Amino acid sequence: MSDEKAQVEAARAAFASDHERFAELNLNGSSLAEAEALLRELSELKVRHTGKKSALAGAKKLIGKVAAEDRGEFGQFVQSIETEITSGLADAEAKLGEFISKAKTEAERLDVTIPGRRTAVGHLHPITIVRQKVEDIFVSMGYHIEDDREIETDYYNFDALNIPDGHPARESQDTFYTTTGLALRSQTSTVQIRAMERRGVPIRIIAPGKFFRRDTPDMTHVPMFHQIEGLCIDKGISMAHLKGTVTEWLKRLFGEDTKTRFRPSYFPFTEPSAEFDFSCFKCHGTGKFDNARCRPCKGSGWIELGGSGMVHPNVLRAVNVDPTIYSGFAFGFGLDRMAALMYEIDDIRHLFDNDVRFLEQFR
Ligand code: DAH
Repeated sequence: MSDEKAQVEAARAAFASDHERFAELNLNGSSLAEAEALLRELSELKVRHTGKKSALAGAKKLIGKVAAEDRGEFGQFVQSIETEITSGLADAEAKLGEFISKAKTEAERLDVTIPGRRTAVGHLHPITIVRQKVEDIFVSMGYHIEDDREIETDYYNFDALNIPDGHPARESQDTFYTTTGLALRSQTSTVQIRAMERRGVPIRIIAPGKFFRRDTPDMTHVPMFHQIEGLCIDKGISMAHLKGTVTEWLKRLFGEDTKTRFRPSYFPFTEPSAEFDFSCFKCHGTGKFDNARCRPCKGSGWIELGGSGMVHPNVLRAVNVDPTIYSGFAFGFGLDRMAALMYEIDDIRHLFDNDVRFLEQFR
């Protein structure tokens, strides 16, 4: 029987040497992938030492072959080795299994207490904010909002507005020309003509939009500005309606105590013409703020805003409206300067740099 015993002993020794690293398994600091690789190795080991072709399987076959009187003892011996091998395998398998399941849970863990990442919410540009405020006021007074093209012909930009070729007013409105006889509009007054052609009269519109001048950028000039143009034509419209309308919308925008002032002026498309100012929204017309010279109005108490007047008969004739029946007023003012004043932005170029760190301040 000693031969058979030796054979079983050899099977055990072979297992013990293969299994040594699993018997003393220390997974501290191991990764999930390392543990999974070990588990694969372990299952190969299992096949090798407990499979059909294993030494252990061979040993079990020997049980029937030993002498009958030795069979009991030999059988027990084989069984004890089998137990040793299977429990050695099972222990390592359990250890690896536990480690892998913990590592997986850890890897897939979701910390529901971590604060969520906020999506950045955009906001309106200061010029858009001011434009929308003015639009709301005029819509509530029964005006339509007109939008129109930024590339115009000479006719709409000048001729139809009573600025014929050679008129000195053309010079101060130098703009950017395309090669096909078109130019970027130098004022939003073009929409007066376009809107009357489209809608006829009576008409009440405001037209917010961009206009262009050949200016070198500095603190108060850029080549592209925004304006709001206004036009009201009906029977019996007088200068009193113009003054009332301008006074009313400025009061709604800057408060009940806002005063307006009209100064005689000249524009080719209005007669008579006037520039209009309003009492400063910061110092309420006193010229002083915190005992110092008020900044937006430079201490004068007044802020100059725009131009206005009674629409020139030639402008009405250009759109086939009879000036003996209809009359009306028009006005125009810059939005950029107004936004800069309201938000106390001292360099108008900041409005177009599109630096969100700057623009974010104005909501
Ligand atoms: N278009 C003029 C400009 O750009 C502003 C203006 C003045 C518009 C008087 C008007 C007006 O409608 O009546 O300087």
